[in-house]
Amino acid sequence: MALLVHLSDLHVGAMNFHAEILLKAIGQINDLNPDLTIVTGDLTENGYYLEFLKASQYLEKIESPLMVVPGNHDSRHVGNETFEEVLKHRHGTIENDTKTLKVIGLDSSEPDLDYGKVGRSQQIWMEKELQKAYNEKQYKVIALHHHIIPVPKTGRERNVLADAGDVLFSLINNKTDLVISGHKHVPHVWKLENTIFVTAGTVSSLKLRGKDLNSFNIYNIKEDCIEINLRQVQGKKYLLAKYENTCRN
Ligand SMILES: [Fe+2]
Ligand SMILES: [Fe+2]
Repeated sequence: MALLVHLSDLHVGAMNFHAEILLKAIGQINDLNPDLTIVTGDLTENGYYLEFLKASQYLEKIESPLMVVPGNHDSRHVGNETFEEVLKHRHGTIENDTKTLKVIGLDSSEPDLDYGKVGRSQQIWMEKELQKAYNEKQYKVIALHHHIIPVPKTGRERNVLADAGDVLFSLINNKTDLVISGHKHVPHVWKLENTIFVTAGTVSSLKLRGKDLNSFNIYNIKEDCIEINLRQVQGKKYLLAKYENTCRN
């Protein structure tokens, strides 16, 4: 049905940002020729204008249709306004060519704060989009920067969405198939009810846990199942999880 690539946490402008790793990842992504590529925030380290310009120059090298949502680092120093100028929409939707899949991108960032929040009005908009997609029997993906369920081995939880309970309830109730996020720089998969929650590692920052390597996620979504693969930019590719699709029934 669709091949999706999910990368996150580029951190362009950081001391520990590595351009050659990002360029290598972009080459790997273009070789995969995905239907869509989704970037779940922290494109920049500080939200500075020049960091956004540099980040968008890298992202322009990605050949597939692209959706980008902001992270907490992107909303520092009026980066929330700069994001709109350079990358346009902070939330929105994108479909694959055959319109069998819809990605709904959310802005979970708050200016100059690290915690995340979807907020009531954006949640209502999300619910309408999920309902439309359900009526069209589309595969429904939500993309946002902050994780909704805590990620193991990432220390004491501080940055899960402030309205995680409400958003989680809404996602499950509206039969969301897949929720993808970043922020913790740690790849992980949870399944709750019939919804799969996947976090991505960082694609090009050396802010890594232990011996983790930079990585991005690949979702091979078929009619009856989803395969979730982790691609280490300087390592190997391996299967993280595989599940049957159950939400569109
Ligand atoms: Fe990050
Ligand atoms: Fe973040």
